[in-house]
Amino acid sequence: MDLRPALVPPGGRIGILGGGQLGRMLALAAARLGLSSHIYTDSADGPAQEVAAFTQIGRFDDTAALSQFAARCDVVTYEFENIPLAAIDAVLATRVVYPPIAALGVAQDRLSEKRFMQDLGLATAPFADVASQADLMAAIAAIGLPAILKTRRFGYDGKGQIVLRTLDDAASAFDQLGSVPAILEGMVPLAGELSVIAARSRDGQFASYDCPANVHRAGILHRSTVPSGMPLAVLDNARTMAERIAAALDYVGVIGVELFLHQDGRLLINEIAPRVHNSGHWTLDACLISQFENHVRAIAGWPLGSTRRHSDAEMVNLLGDDVADWHKLAGGYDTAVHLYGKRGAKPGRKMGHFTLIRPIS
Ligand SMILES: Nc1ncnc2c1ncn2[C@@H]1O[C@H](COP(=O)(O)OP(=O)(O)O)[C@@H](O)[C@H]1O
Ligand SMILES: [Mg+2]
Repeated sequence: MDLRPALVPPGGRIGILGGGQLGRMLALAAARLGLSSHIYTDSADGPAQEVAAFTQIGRFDDTAALSQFAARCDVVTYEFENIPLAAIDAVLATRVVYPPIAALGVAQDRLSEKRFMQDLGLATAPFADVASQADLMAAIAAIGLPAILKTRRFGYDGKGQIVLRTLDDAASAFDQLGSVPAILEGMVPLAGELSVIAARSRDGQFASYDCPANVHRAGILHRSTVPSGMPLAVLDNARTMAERIAAALDYVGVIGVELFLHQDGRLLINEIAPRVHNSGHWTLDACLISQFENHVRAIAGWPLGSTRRHSDAEMVNLLGDDVADWHKLAGGYDTAVHLYGKRGAKPGRKMGHFTLIRPIS
């Protein structure tokens, strides 16, 4: 059976697995193109369903419900990484899923992700597989300290990570992390962090946005700034690396590639996100066509839209109680405020973001 989907024309239905803020912004972008979004989520009150045409609440291990959902849609995508691959398989029985499942498989496991980069000849932080406390001690002997112990799976926003500065820190670190499969990564002395946000179409057209410089706080993205102020050669190199990754995965949709700029000038791949990315939220306000719309265009088989930036931009996340400033931010003349409609501002929870815009004259 040829599962390549037909072009999804206006009036078509985009299926989105996951109901968070990325799903919300994808659904809004789809609506602008006359496409309707159907959300599959396991949570009754997520940010996406408020702006979608239809929502099905179900578990991600309910393959029958997932197949039923897929049958309603013309093409299906996902908006978070920790979807079980079996859920994607259930959808794939009837509909195409973009980005390809192979990209999700690579991104879900930090070890396979690092090995994938190694096979492509792309540099990463030094790393070692850690399946026991003994492995951890051997990894420290090989890589040195400081280093970071990270779970192979299910980590996000700095969760599932322990920074090890001394051997004392390491003594019970494997247990502290839950005795689950992990990797040890050497701590990279950073000159900065950047990301590539890029779209790849079904026919292999690749279009990247200007790379933002990213600042994290406690492992969570705090701020993304364009222009990044980084040397052009670094930015070109980052884009070339991202294009090679996307091509190797036969990628369709928007990809986020997080990179470290080492103090010695080398660019290292940190990780990839097979979806729209928080460090690309500024594209909503500083580009004609946002990362969200370009993701929808790519998976629906439309031409990619322009990634050109018409304004300088600085995006800041609103975490937890930061969102209490909404009224003041809404009054900022150069400020675009985006709120995700979440109830309950728990510490560290992404409640919204704002973007400061300065048009390029
Ligand atoms: N090996 C490392 N060296 C230096 N900083 C790191 C390293 N790994 C992670 N970090 C810091 O922690 C942040 C979050 O780590 P990351 O591996 O991207 O996890 P997550 O999946 O939670 O985003 C990074 O953006 C960076 O600021
Ligand atoms: Mg990250």
